[in-house]
Amino acid sequence: MGLGARHASRYSPVELLEGDPHLIARIKDLIADLTSDHADLLVAFHRVQAEMGYVPREAVPFLAARFKTTPAMIFGAISFYSEVHTEPPPGTVVEWCSGPACLLKGSMNIRRAIEAVIGCGMNESTPDNAVGLRLVQCDGTCHLAPLVRVEHRYVGPLTVSDAIKLARDLKEGKKA
Ligand code: FES
Repeated sequence: MGLGARHASRYSPVELLEGDPHLIARIKDLIADLTSDHADLLVAFHRVQAEMGYVPREAVPFLAARFKTTPAMIFGAISFYSEVHTEPPPGTVVEWCSGPACLLKGSMNIRRAIEAVIGCGMNESTPDNAVGLRLVQCDGTCHLAPLVRVEHRYVGPLTVSDAIKLARDLKEGKKA
């Protein structure tokens, strides 16, 4: 994703929370071997996200102290790397391909149908965090265009009615 791109898990520094001691202790262990150099900060984000699925906002003050910087700098780094998520991942992730073959085969209509039925926009999640929509690039599976990936499983070629059924199933808690 592009640098500086916004996504639904952005949060404001005013939302700084007290850290859960167990969570902070686990994060401390995860990054124990890293230096305080800012070059290791991205490694820290990746390790925390790999285990927890996101970088909890409660971790920001600890990370700031650990990397000898300010919470604002940590927030800035999180905002810069759009692949770093700051909220728990949705129960089911639906990835919509924005590539040219999918677009030529009507993927915008697929996107509109899914957004309308699920009730959230691209790169957002439903209020209950059950389903999240993510924009992705072509990964070479164009023979399935237009497609989505549901929890990394390819679903395509899709018609609009297929997409509506898929979205309804997801909304009802059924896996595609
Ligand atoms: S353009 Fe969508 S998979 Fe290639």
